[in-house]
Amino acid sequence: MTPLSLSYANVMAPALGSGGIDPERLDGELAERFQRARARVDRQRESGELGFLDLPGDRGAVKAIREVADSFGQWFENLVVVGIGGSSLGARALTEALLGVHWNLRSDEERDHFPRLHFLENADPDSFTELLGRIDPRRTLFNVVSKSGSTAETMAQFLAVEGILEAALGEEKVGGHLLFTTDPSAGPLRKLAEARGVPSMAIPANVGGRFSVLSPVGLLPGAIVGIDPDEVLAGAAEMARRCEADQLRENPAGLVAVLLHSLDRDGGRSVHVMMPYADRLRNLSLWFQQLWAESLGKGQDLDGRPVETGPTPLAALGAVDQHSLLQLLMEGPRDKVVLFLRRKEAEGRVEIPQRYPDEEALAYLGDSELGELLEVERRATAEALRRSGRPSLVVEVDRLDARAMGELFMLFQLATVYGGALYGVDPLDQPGVELGKRLTYGLMGRTGFDAAELAPEDAGGFRV
Ligand code: PA5
Repeated sequence: MTPLSLSYANVMAPALGSGGIDPERLDGELAERFQRARARVDRQRESGELGFLDLPGDRGAVKAIREVADSFGQWFENLVVVGIGGSSLGARALTEALLGVHWNLRSDEERDHFPRLHFLENADPDSFTELLGRIDPRRTLFNVVSKSGSTAETMAQFLAVEGILEAALGEEKVGGHLLFTTDPSAGPLRKLAEARGVPSMAIPANVGGRFSVLSPVGLLPGAIVGIDPDEVLAGAAEMARRCEADQLRENPAGLVAVLLHSLDRDGGRSVHVMMPYADRLRNLSLWFQQLWAESLGKGQDLDGRPVETGPTPLAALGAVDQHSLLQLLMEGPRDKVVLFLRRKEAEGRVEIPQRYPDEEALAYLGDSELGELLEVERRATAEALRRSGRPSLVVEVDRLDARAMGELFMLFQLATVYGGALYGVDPLDQPGVELGKRLTYGLMGRTGFDAAELAPEDAGGFRV
């Protein structure tokens, strides 16, 4: 299998023209920026802050994941992952890429008796009742995932689920349908796991939510539906090794970060559009969107000075969004870079028959194949963007297998920490989401939080 590749000709001046990056800068100024970023990332690695880098070598975690998955996997008809943000997006991206978008429509035999898979993310009563009204709680395992063990959306849904399980099964059987993934020692979910004897998995203390896909947060739901954690981690380890390269041109994560940062800071391209041409990667775009946004959008630099910085990621899907966003990408403000994701070989093959040879608008499609059309559309879009001086990058994998997913996850996580160093911010924290959380706690009556006065949304009579 060929390793993941990154093509970046279409951000460089020879192909793109005046808005592109001068190749000399790659070996000069940008290489120096990269060395400074690398030095900071090395310090973070040495101080143990970058726990996600240790995950591929954590044999104990893989053993535990396998044991838990073997004991639960094919026993249940449904697996419901209850979590939000970093506690859900990685597992969604991994499982959708490897199981496909219609896993739940497959028969038991086609799923090899692995469970159907559902996610409860938002605190939306409609999605909750729709799902819980259709699955049989007696044949369902709920994996409650929360690093803090206190996220309101997750814990509220857990409480509702527990009540439903109790009503359906009786109190003593509830624990057999629950599996917690949380901090190894802190937080209410850990306390509950211990008090109630609920099986649980640990998210290492130095692994934050959006960097946790290679921990039990992503790998356990994956293993329960038959995805080999070792293969994912092997791909991740291989990418981490490639990204140790000290030369910018040889370091894929360094290049993603340096090129996107330079296009933003030196060229005003602050909107970073991730556009996979594969339905199975739609959730990877959403995972990347959260990773890039929450890690790099910051109000304080590394010296504590106030800043308002960070690129805006935008999740898209090719070719669907050619019929939605492309007009803006082609002719709107020159503030965007597109990051195409391509898998060379799809699993399926759909021949397009030649049925109307005399109908010019249909005849050209005949005797070809759907995957060919999709790739031609991607190439045509990249070329059209290039011709109008709009930059794009291409990340390419042979096929969507567990190794390739490991490579992709590690590539973008490392690019994010390099990005933090380049933008001069801490990519591992998220202080900006705290105020909203505190206000929510206060409004919901949590002890120790004031029920703040909210400005009316129609103050001053601004309502029609
Ligand atoms: O990346 C992050 O830290 C966040 O997106 C969290 O994953 C999200 O807020 C959920 O937090 P928790 O896992 O504590 O429930």
